[in-house]
Amino acid sequence: MTDHSAKSVAVVTGAAGDIGAAICRALAPSHHIAAVDIDATALDAAVADLNALGFQASAFVCDLTDPEALSELAASVAGLGPVTVLINNAGAAASLTLHSMTAASLAKDLSLNLEAALNAFKVFETPLTECGSGCVVNIASVNGLAAFGHPAYSAAKAGLVHATKAIAVEYGKYGLRANSVAPGTVRTQAWKDRAKANPDVFNEALAWYPLKHLPEPDDIATTVAFLASRAARCITGICLPVDSGLTAGSTALPRTFTQSPDFDG
Ligand SMILES: NC(=O)c1ccc[n+]([C@@H]2O[C@H](COP(=O)([O-])OP(=O)(O)OC[C@H]3O[C@@H](n4cnc5c(N)ncnc54)[C@H](O)[C@@H]3O)[C@@H](O)[C@H]2O)c1
Repeated sequence: MTDHSAKSVAVVTGAAGDIGAAICRALAPSHHIAAVDIDATALDAAVADLNALGFQASAFVCDLTDPEALSELAASVAGLGPVTVLINNAGAAASLTLHSMTAASLAKDLSLNLEAALNAFKVFETPLTECGSGCVVNIASVNGLAAFGHPAYSAAKAGLVHATKAIAVEYGKYGLRANSVAPGTVRTQAWKDRAKANPDVFNEALAWYPLKHLPEPDDIATTVAFLASRAARCITGICLPVDSGLTAGSTALPRTFTQSPDFDG
């Protein structure tokens, strides 16, 4: 029989995705990973990769937008041991613009990117508070901090940043910390269709980033691992951009304002 007692459990949603898989790898040395995703085939492959590296990881297929499925998930995960970490990483954008948005695409964006994260927090609330040092990290987006398109997804991510602060304030008395991370453009499968439509999409995006490189899944994962570690024990309620400087500004406007070539290149 497998001994699950040694490590506490970290629940990672969207674990079959590129950022989710990287987060699992970053947390796996110190946690038993409860890897959650709706895509059973990709999830099995992701968990097999973790197990092949010698890590404890278990797969849980779940549609996070279904509250009943979430309750069942919590009951199943409880069998692994105490949940001390919850990473709400699953996310995707349906509505491209406000003009093209429909009631259905709005509901989809809010359901996955905001409601599912809060409902997931609720189903793991008891172990996260009882352990005395629980940790929630919500993967938001730079889209939650400024208007970059995908308006309903962005509104949901902005809501997620606020919800993170609400958790931090209300549950701080239990030693529970909650933080959000706002990635910039990360080359993942979520970009597949856009990269197909425009193979130059990442180079075009790069022009707006002060650091002339884009974050990669491991950059998001190491930040999450830091926030989940004791090194971050006094950090709660923040939204940490991992965005190669995008939300600090870009060089095009200062170039216009100053007419200085110092902003070129
Ligand atoms: N890639 C980027 O440029 C970028 C930028 C900012 C923020 N983010 C955020 O990072 C997170 C991860 O994104 P990614 O780029 O790795 O995407 P991804 O598409 O690679 O992974 C997302 C995963 O979530 C899963 N998922 C979708 N709906 C689900 C549901 N209802 N129930 C359970 N699982 C579901 C998918 O199956 C997939 O495995 C998302 O929250 C995304 O909004 C990504």
